[in-house]
Amino acid sequence: MRDSSYKVQEEGLIRSDISEYLKRHEDKDLLRILTCGSVDDGKSTLIGRLLYDSHMIYEDQLKKVTEDSKIYGTTDADFDPALLTDGLKAEREQGITIDVAYRYFSTDKRKFIIADCPGHEQYTRNMATGASTSNLATILIDARYGVITQTKRHSFICSLLGIKHVVVAVNKMDLVDWSESTFEQIKNDYNAFVSRLNFSDIHFIPLSALKGDNVVEHGNNLIWYDGPTFLHHLENVNISTDRNLIDMRFPVQYVSRPNPDFRGFSGTLASGVARVGDVVASLPSRQQSKIKSLYGPDGEVPEAFAPQSVTITLEDEIDVSRGNMIVPVNNIPHIGNEFEAMVVWMHDSPAQAGKSYLVKHTSNMIPGVLSEIRYTVDINTMQRSKSIEEKVPIDSLKLNEIGRCHMTLHRPIAFDPYDRNRTTGAFIIIDRLSNATVGAGMIVDRIASKPDHKKAPVSQNIVRSDSLVSAEDRQKLLSQKSITIWLTGLSGSGKSTIALQLEKDLLEQGHLCYILDGDNVRHGLNRDLGFSMEDRKENIRRIAEVAALMNDAGVIVITSFISPYISDRTAARSVIGDERFIEVFVDTPIEICEHRDPKGLYKKARAGEIQQFTGISAPYEAPQAPELTLCTEELVPPVAAQIISDCLKKRSIIC
Ligand code: ADX
Repeated sequence: MRDSSYKVQEEGLIRSDISEYLKRHEDKDLLRILTCGSVDDGKSTLIGRLLYDSHMIYEDQLKKVTEDSKIYGTTDADFDPALLTDGLKAEREQGITIDVAYRYFSTDKRKFIIADCPGHEQYTRNMATGASTSNLATILIDARYGVITQTKRHSFICSLLGIKHVVVAVNKMDLVDWSESTFEQIKNDYNAFVSRLNFSDIHFIPLSALKGDNVVEHGNNLIWYDGPTFLHHLENVNISTDRNLIDMRFPVQYVSRPNPDFRGFSGTLASGVARVGDVVASLPSRQQSKIKSLYGPDGEVPEAFAPQSVTITLEDEIDVSRGNMIVPVNNIPHIGNEFEAMVVWMHDSPAQAGKSYLVKHTSNMIPGVLSEIRYTVDINTMQRSKSIEEKVPIDSLKLNEIGRCHMTLHRPIAFDPYDRNRTTGAFIIIDRLSNATVGAGMIVDRIASKPDHKKAPVSQNIVRSDSLVSAEDRQKLLSQKSITIWLTGLSGSGKSTIALQLEKDLLEQGHLCYILDGDNVRHGLNRDLGFSMEDRKENIRRIAEVAALMNDAGVIVITSFISPYISDRTAARSVIGDERFIEVFVDTPIEICEHRDPKGLYKKARAGEIQQFTGISAPYEAPQAPELTLCTEELVPPVAAQIISDCLKKRSIIC
């Protein structure tokens, strides 16, 4: 058993010089470990053995376990290490949902945090949570059964969540007669499938967690193995190169303004090194400046590196606020409101393509749509199980499923691919109503293949030409900025009436504006379209293109379309441009619309004479974060129109 002199020395130091003890402790580096395996693989026993043999157990705990071993121990031994970690097991047996249990221990070389999470498929989300911050994964294999489906699943999730180092602990070697050939076979089997994954080092260790061989001490049974013990490997594995010190990324968490002379930006460096004098840009505005000074916890410093928390001041008064990112001008991440990501779904209610969620990315919280689920992955085989290319429509992602998704946000963010940066490449998805975290995403290192609404033109050899007249020239001429006011709501909700009133009011105030209305446009430009989901999508796509052109011409556009699908409206927003798009929800309950029934269409729809009628036989997806909501039950049209024009004044669109 391991010499306990380290513990004795530590205890002595705690008594004699607590600040020296704390300092030594602070200087040790930290290894975060994820343990993957089920209870039967001996996971609890391995962690228990590690804590016990490295003398990390309190005396009262030890006494209790020794007593309990005699009563409940599953082994004939006097001491069952699994009982040390059985809190987790007990919770599981009681059916309590646990996330991840974290255990902490340290040796004279390193500090460790072990994330222990259940291994069954229904706990994929828990494993993803534990894996997202871990440096190293321990994959436990029962020597009697070798590489099984679960081994592959765990390895895949670890790789997806960016873990670079793996220890394959081939456990229960005592039950296979300490057989070298069994160990070699498992090694070959594992290497055969893992080549497809993205690990930088894999280490195999034969051991017996129960008997203790190769956990902390070598023991006498595995003499054919000449590698390090499990603990020795954990103490020495090199993780310093995992840190990305190249791409400086500083997401601003807080603007600190204690007095008028000081304006600092506080946060944690996600990666890279920041130095005084560096020429930097604030994203997404791209305004440039130089780092004037850097402050760490102990005062001013000439440089700081990830993952330190710092406050940065800049030479110039540029526009920087919470959610912006400070980066070097010569090394800028992607900036955009669309990207593709692998998403792990973590909630009972499935992800829906086209539904709007909140996306939390660094210190930003932005509304966004999961615009397309391109394929799902069978996590046990690592094969694509369904795919959009095979024309299998995928409209949802269930709890614990993993899928490749296209995300469209309401405004642009600065991001890197996850495998380059685990902070700026990750995001979580939050349900807008319940506020629950429903998914976690890792941004993929590929240009997002745009969903349909941004298809490349069919024609080749076409080159855009730029106008000699600028948007500002047109603004000056017309004394207005251009904008699209997108009215959405049920048929009969009052969209057209409000649009007509608003158009008249604006014109009387001297502004050029124009209404695009569903019933009108469907007589001309869109006369070939009906009311299927596909046709409505095309209807909205064409209108968005027309509105964008009219906005380019300087005109204020008021659109009046049911536009029932969130994904279509989001696509319209991205065609027209977020800064030129105001979504107005004309929120009238269906009963009132049906009662008004100005065109007699609800009656016909109820009688089955009209198919796919919105609100009756086709859905309406209400906006979840519109710029304005107008309840026409309470507002007469002139007041509703007035509210919109007030909003335009506030935004300095008109004066
Ligand atoms: S959208 O759904 O594609 O945005 P749009 O606004 O262009 O619809 O057209 C809706 C108008 O078409 C309604 O106000 C109504 O007068 C008429 N209409 C005819 N059939 C339908 C239908 N099946 N569903 C909805 N509106 C219909």
